[in-house]
Amino acid sequence: MTRKHLLGIQDLDREEILEILDTAESFQEVSTRPIKKVPTLRGKTIINLFFEASTRTRTSFEIAGKRLSADVVNVSASTSSVSKGETLIDTAKTLDAMAADCVVIRHSSSGAPNTLARLTKASIINAGDGAHEHPTQALLDAFTIRMRKGRLDDLKVAIIGDVAHSRVARSNVHLLTKFGTHVWLCSTPTLMPQGVQHMVCENRHFLHTTNSMDEAVRAADVIMMLRVQFERMNESFFPSIREYFRYFGLSRRRVEQAKPDVIIMHPGPMNRGVEIATDVADGPYSVILDQVAAGVAVRMSILYLLLGG
Ligand code: NCD
Repeated sequence: MTRKHLLGIQDLDREEILEILDTAESFQEVSTRPIKKVPTLRGKTIINLFFEASTRTRTSFEIAGKRLSADVVNVSASTSSVSKGETLIDTAKTLDAMAADCVVIRHSSSGAPNTLARLTKASIINAGDGAHEHPTQALLDAFTIRMRKGRLDDLKVAIIGDVAHSRVARSNVHLLTKFGTHVWLCSTPTLMPQGVQHMVCENRHFLHTTNSMDEAVRAADVIMMLRVQFERMNESFFPSIREYFRYFGLSRRRVEQAKPDVIIMHPGPMNRGVEIATDVADGPYSVILDQVAAGVAVRMSILYLLLGG
């Protein structure tokens, strides 16, 4: 891979995606060793710059960097000078002056990683920007799907929930439609982004939208549930949680409408009882913890490929 930054899935091609997934496969084994470390990125400095809350993404980037022997520094907005009013640009220049090799950024504004990529010498990795993209999540989702289904093409993937606020949904649409998988976005009309039918993606005819969970789930190979992002809502998007769960929540009864070998995914964190029932989240079809495990291997692969190992 000759790329310096990972800003989104939209501009990756299939070969690059497969290279990331194949490399991740070879890194999986490192996490099973008694000493979980390889010297690949010794002497490289990675800064995790998180302006929004995160458990999985931040921790797995830190673990991935450390398993590759890089020095990893965590900066969170609430304890940095951002809370004193410093701009993103000044923060970026400061980190650059310390000769960081890579900055992993999560920000509530779409495009923040692109701005950073223009201003710093470091490689920039987008760890989620607003409702725009979350490329490493889509890559770990693809890794999990490929591991379970043996392929990324010719599947039916239902992505259900708060699509409007979801960067995970967008990155997954870009990735899966590139491989010729049918993606069904399903939500209440209020949580479906305006103009989604015209969303720019390769192979537009693989993208479908529906307000009917029956239609989305019927004969699905993969069901991916999305968290209702209450923190991004300044008004009410549905009458009550009870009603939301009734029409868009994943219960055991709904799972039965899918294929018998369906897998259930969720990027986390979950709102149990809102978008997903507890017995489904912890049940036999759930691969939610496999996604978390894949996150470490996929992020090791990305760090390795971008930083030139
Ligand atoms: C997602 C995110 O932050 O976009 N979570 C994650 O990275 N695992 C989805 C979410 O917050 O609901």
